[in-house]
Amino acid sequence: MSPQTPATQRPLTIALAEAAAMAGHAPSVHNTQPWRWRVLPDALELRTASQRRLAATDPEGRLLALSCGAALHHARVALRAEGWTSVVQRNPDPADPELLARLTDLRRGAADPPAMRLVQCMQVRHTDRRPVSADPVPADQLTEIVQAASGEGARLQLLDRDQVLELAATASHAGTVEADDPQLREELAYWTSRTSGAGLPPEVLPDQAPQTTVPGRDFGRPGTLPVGPGHDRAAAYALLFGDEDEPESWLRAGEALSAAWLAATRLGVSVVPLSGVVEVPGTRQILRQLLAGLGYPYLVLRLGLADPAHAGPPHTPRLAVEQTVDTSAVRDAQR
Ligand SMILES: Cc1cc2nc3c(=O)[nH]c(=O)nc-3n(C[C@H](O)[C@H](O)[C@H](O)COP(=O)(O)O)c2cc1C
Repeated sequence: MSPQTPATQRPLTIALAEAAAMAGHAPSVHNTQPWRWRVLPDALELRTASQRRLAATDPEGRLLALSCGAALHHARVALRAEGWTSVVQRNPDPADPELLARLTDLRRGAADPPAMRLVQCMQVRHTDRRPVSADPVPADQLTEIVQAASGEGARLQLLDRDQVLELAATASHAGTVEADDPQLREELAYWTSRTSGAGLPPEVLPDQAPQTTVPGRDFGRPGTLPVGPGHDRAAAYALLFGDEDEPESWLRAGEALSAAWLAATRLGVSVVPLSGVVEVPGTRQILRQLLAGLGYPYLVLRLGLADPAHAGPPHTPRLAVEQTVDTSAVRDAQR
């Protein structure tokens, strides 16, 4: 197929393979990229890459499903941008829990310009762990980000001042619990010392703990990302939550995370997920109380305006497409 072939005339299998490759830009816990796509003649399957799961940090697979949900949303938007609509089956086979989703019933329509804009956002979105600027995010932008999440079946609650202070104490406690656990320390050390397209390189980690209201993750070693003297006092904090604490709701929460983060990127708002408080069962329970029975917490997000005076961190590397997208079932058809 010539690269000049218009997107709207490309065969379905090419569109599916390209959407799966685009989904590689999605955020994932410790940049584990715990997904494996399989392109079929008329469907796209998303599976867990269990060799990249965090057995100690995430034994239930909550953060794995959130990460894969973000990738699923990326793939759906990439298909929509090119005019493909699809039906999503989540966790379609109870006997095969590693099969997280299947996109089927693909039909071609008109290209979708708002989705095309979000595809551009996928390519620039990144995690910037430095303090944010002293200007708060405008209220209407926060509302847009919250609405983007709720369109995907999870909710984002902005925390008030008292709740943020409680979150700060809870995150600090979670950090102490995690730092005291040798298995968690070992797992973190592994994912902060890889050089093969997954994990967190020193360039994206702060060279000293940034001044933040809610403590960010202590990665156990300083990185090389310069952190200025600023404080993120103007940042907003939000809790992503939903009605159930089950694998399918975690997957949907990941889709909501992607929708919210891409909306934020379009608006120039920086997002940093904080998952330590969710990883430790005791602090996850405190977050649940913070929600006053409204639902189950999935992830904390810091939202702020990135400091415009300094360049942000470089992009975190990604695995080669062949390691995350399996096209063997359609390879002959694509030749
Ligand atoms: C479920 C989930 C949990 C995350 N938890 C944290 C966290 O606790 N602290 C942090 O600094 N980044 C966290 N991240 C951000 C990832 O480290 C980041 O997405 C990944 O390294 C890829 O980098 P990028 O977002 O710049 O593309 C999390 C991301 C996801 C999807």
